[in-house]
Parts: sequence; structure tokens; C-alpha cells
Amino acid sequence: MTGTTFGAVPWGPPLGEPVPRLDGRAKVTGSARYAADHTPAGCAHAWPVPAPVAKGTVTAVHRAAAMAEPGALSVLAHDDAPRLGDADDRTLAVLQSPRIAHRGQVVALAVAETLPAARAMAAAVRIECAPVPPDLELTPEHPRLVTPEGAESAQGDFPAAFHGAQVRIDAVYSIPPLHNHPMEPHAATAQWLGGRLVVFDSSQGSNAVRDALAALFELEPDQVSVVSEHVGGGFGAKGTPRPHVVLAAMAAMAVNRPVKLALPRGLLPALTGYRASTLQRVRLGADTEGRVRAIAHEVDTYTSPLSPDWRERATQPTRSLYAAPHRLTRERVAPLDVPSPSWMRAPGECSGMFAVESAMDELAVACAMDPIELRARNEPDVDPHTGRPFSSRHLVECLRAGADRFGWADRDPAPAMRRQGRLLIGSGVAASTYPAEVIPSSARAHANPGGGFLVEINATDIGTGARTVLAQIAASTLGIGVDELEIDIGRTDLPRAPLAGGSCGTASWGWAVHKACGELSRRIDEHQGAVPAGGLTVTVDTTEDLATDDQYTRRSFGAQFAEVAVDVDTGEARVRRLLGVFAAGRILNPRTARSQLLGGMIMGLSMALTETSTLDLAFGDHPERDLASYHVASCADVREIDVHWLAEEDSRLNPMGSKGIGELGIVGTAAAVTNAIHHATGVRVRDLPAQPDALL
Ligand code: MOS
Repeated sequence: MTGTTFGAVPWGPPLGEPVPRLDGRAKVTGSARYAADHTPAGCAHAWPVPAPVAKGTVTAVHRAAAMAEPGALSVLAHDDAPRLGDADDRTLAVLQSPRIAHRGQVVALAVAETLPAARAMAAAVRIECAPVPPDLELTPEHPRLVTPEGAESAQGDFPAAFHGAQVRIDAVYSIPPLHNHPMEPHAATAQWLGGRLVVFDSSQGSNAVRDALAALFELEPDQVSVVSEHVGGGFGAKGTPRPHVVLAAMAAMAVNRPVKLALPRGLLPALTGYRASTLQRVRLGADTEGRVRAIAHEVDTYTSPLSPDWRERATQPTRSLYAAPHRLTRERVAPLDVPSPSWMRAPGECSGMFAVESAMDELAVACAMDPIELRARNEPDVDPHTGRPFSSRHLVECLRAGADRFGWADRDPAPAMRRQGRLLIGSGVAASTYPAEVIPSSARAHANPGGGFLVEINATDIGTGARTVLAQIAASTLGIGVDELEIDIGRTDLPRAPLAGGSCGTASWGWAVHKACGELSRRIDEHQGAVPAGGLTVTVDTTEDLATDDQYTRRSFGAQFAEVAVDVDTGEARVRRLLGVFAAGRILNPRTARSQLLGGMIMGLSMALTETSTLDLAFGDHPERDLASYHVASCADVREIDVHWLAEEDSRLNPMGSKGIGELGIVGTAAAVTNAIHHATGVRVRDLPAQPDALL
């Protein structure tokens, strides 16, 4: 990316306006088609059979009882499934080997005329296997814990500076495994048409799905079409191709019919990634005035043998967060025989910020300082890790604006002092930050001779409002209203574009849409404003625009405030109020932005109080496999939530001046809640979630 500075704001309406979702009506009336809503003629149904042990070998697949079910078509397993080509991602090499890498891995696939028949068949398949003892437990002494390349950093002399500090915090924080549960479970409908593969998939990025399917089935990418027109949430769980889409394509090949596979929710935790548990030690050494001289953040986590390069990069935000001359970060990861962890909203950053922002609160208490003043005192001039300037950074401004709105000024810092009947009341604060990245994208803009425009880009709208915001960017660039153009997204036969992930979708796609529409405007001007009979079409790519060296650290920032009430008899904590104030560049649509940030904050509240998965050492996977046992915060848990943002100008980001907002909202929320619990009760919650027994 660039040293480029984008000119003064060229933007007018409808950008920046609260345009309602263009697909809202289609979604609420049920006419929007999701992956499993497509039923080609002759479509068969598939149901997976999960591995019953955590590690071992499948020695026999007994199919007779399953094949005796009415409507049975096939039971695919490693011994007869189509052979696949190489995939970089080994979780996609489904049914290729008798080896069992984790419990819940798909070891057979039942295919039948109807969904109930496929399900009955799957229950009747008997898997015989030779189990071996799995390695499931992460301890700080685990012999296979390693520090991968790039997973540690050191500046100054941390040990000496920490040892010599007047005030020291040394604490260990833990987060359990956490699972994404999008409303729409992962699903795919696959169909072979001649030598072509056509797939409807529930994915955050269909280009990556197409590339993976092309490699696995040894096709050219243009022989594969993937449609992800509407997607019912993802949070990272649909950020990369997942096994279900490969299984659907494989089954369609084997039975020579279209096949639909919607994963049962109970298999999502084993097959679609999760936030791996982290054990995090944070050490802060400061003077009595709260100036941090030494900061260390060390994380132990794990991955699976199928995803050897994965880790929760939980120290990443710490590197750039607070000034301190003596610094140390280290992430260690061990391979365990567990389901493969992967992306969950603000992967790494969200985990790490719980630990660091809790430790900062502990330091504020130890120094008898206001936690906002403590953070302001440690604000760096430049990125302390790289020495580069921030493209923009308004963390302190967010904290101060939030303090005003929240009513922080009157806060008595003493813990366990405010009682209302059975309730202890407290408030807490934490910082929020997330990288602001951009990925190359292409787009096409077309002017019709009779008036009207069409904008095409393979962006994905996973519920965020991406479709609407891209139409606003196009309309604003063309100087028209959103109703004067059509926007077409969500298919690989549209211009290639990156995934909806890493909070970089809108910045990346929007740049390409802006470029295409700007170029189209110039072309129309060349024709004296009259579109010629054949129309005008412009296709662009932003690879070159993004190609020069980066000179800045680009991050969004925010401040999270929570007020909690803890019942002294039951230990139950409730969040009464939550306030987020963010600095995330230009806000392109306040309606959809608010909803994104609000959703992130609710997910963070949920992480603080209710969500938890247990890695069951007897079985090797997580027993919380439905919404009755995996407790996502529901309406009664969520009271007053307020979202605000600063009018942040950053001319170095992209033509819109926007930063991503998909993940910023969750970062820091859990620490704000547990810091508030400390203020309410005097109990320091270092292990999430804050369950009642810990608060009594
Ligand atoms: Mo996000 S975890 O990049 O979908």
C-alpha cells in the first residue's frame, strides 16, 4: 500500500446517508435465496457421518443397513470417494484417507433421495475404527509448544526494566474455546453440468471457494462457478472454504445428480473453525505515576494437525497499543488432536485485548489512577513496534468522548462500594483496536444507453449491508441516486474481489467500485455526456494502486464502557449499559455501521458473560453443539447499548477514507465488562466467561 494521500473528500450523498438495505425486503419476505434454498431438478440430499474418536484409523465402513433405507443412493467414505487433487488447506481433503485427525471429522457421507432418508442412512452407517490415545491438553510444559517464525518480538531489556519497576502487574488470563454460530449453518448445493461445476455456497468469499474446488477437482477456475448471493452470517466461520462444499461437489460427482448438503448445527463446532483457547500472561512494569516502562505479553495456544500454520495471534495488538521502551511479545502454539481452530470475529486481536486491557485496569488500581488517565499517559507518538506513524489514531479522543457520554466524571474508583438492594453496581472501560487493511479488487461499471447504470463485483454481503454501501459509493461517484443503478454481487462470474473478512471488504471493494465508476464518468464526459448505443463499460483492478511500500500503521480505535450489576446472592452479572465510541475513518452508512458495531459489542458482552465451549478430554471435542448449550447472549442479556463515532479524517486509507468496522466492535468489550465487574464487586475476573460461582 501507499504513501498516496487521497484528495479532500470528493464525497457527497448518498454516501454517508443511512440508506436502508437494498436487499432488506427480499430478506424479510423470504425471496432472498440462500445456499440451501436452491434445489435443482433431481437434487439429492447428503448427511455427514462424524468420526466417533479423536484419533485413529477407520478400519471398516459398514454400509449394508444404510443402503437398505428407502431412497438410499450411496455411502461415500475414504475407500470409494472420488480422489481429490492437492489443497493447501488439509481440512478440505475430505474422505481421502482412513486416518482420523479429530473427533467430528467427516468419515462418511450418506446420500439419498430425501433429507430424512439421508439422515436415517447416516445413523445406520457403522464405522469401525482403531483408536489411538489423543493428545488433547495444553499445558505450559507441553513438549510440542513452539514459537513460530515472526511470533515473538523484543525491544529494550524487558526483564531488567520489569524487575526495576516501582509497580508491577503479573497476571495470567484465560479464554475458553469459543464458537461462531451464524444463523444460517454452512450449506452448499452442487451440480455438475457437463465438465462444469456449479455450486451455491454459504461463504464469505466465493473466489477462494472456486479456487479450492478447481484445485481439488483438477479443473480450470473458469470451469467452476460459485454463487454466494445471500449469506446468513459468518463471523469468520465462512471466511475460507469449508469441508461441506467439497463434500457436496464430491457427492454430486459420485451419484451424478445435484446434491445439497446443509451441515447440522451440531457439526459446525467440529468442522467450521473456532477461537482456540488461549492462556495469556501479561506483565506491566510502571512508575507510580502510571508510566509503563516494560510490557510483556506471552500467549500459549494450540492448533490441529490439519491446520499446522494456524495460531491465535493474540499479541499483535499489544505491539502497537501503548508506549513503553522495554517490550516483549511471544506466541507459542502446540498441535493437539482437536478440531481445527480458525477465524472467529477479530481473531487474535479480540483474545489479546481481553488480557492487555484487563492488565491495564489492574495497573490503574495498583497506581490508584483513573483507567482513562492511565491510558492517555501511555499513548505513543508513533507505533512503538515499527516506529512508523499511525495513519490516524484517536484512541484518547474516543476514551474522553466516551467518558463524557457515559458519565464517568463522578465515578468513585473504590471497588464494591455501590449497593442497590441485592445488586452491586460498577463501571469499567477498555480500549478497542483493529487493523485497517485493504486487498486488491476488481470491479466493472456499465452505463446503459437508455439511462441507468450497472455495477458488478464479486463482493459478499454476509448481512453487513455491503451491497447497499457499495451502491452508495457507486452512486456518489457517478453523481446519481442509488435507485438509478443496479448492483450485482455474490457470484464468481463477476469481477474478482476479496472476501468479506478481516474488516477489509468495504475498503477493498469500494476502492475498485469508486475507480470503475470514476473512469466510467470520464468516458461519458468524452462522449459529451451521451452514452453511445452499445453502452459504455469499464473494468478496473486496484492491484497497482495498492502496490507501493507502506509507511504507516493503519488501525481503527475505540473505547468501550460498561456498567454492570452483580447479584450478591446468585453471583449473576448483568450488563446494564454498554457504550462504544469509535474512530474508524469516514462512516459510509450510519445505519449499517451502527448495526455492525452493535453486533460486535453484543458478541463481546456474550464472550464476557455467557459463551464457553469445553474441550472434553474424554472425547476430544466440544459438547456444546447447539444453541441450548452454547449460550449466545439473547435479548434479556442485552439492555441499553449505545454506539457513537468520531468524525475521523484519514486521507491515507483509500478513496473513501473509511476503516473497517466488522471486528472493531467486539475488541475490548469483554475487558470493559470484567473491569466493571471488578469495580462492582472487587473480584478480578481473569478467566472467561465470568460465571456466577466466580463472583460469589
Ligand atoms: Mo472475520 S473473523 O475476518 O470474518
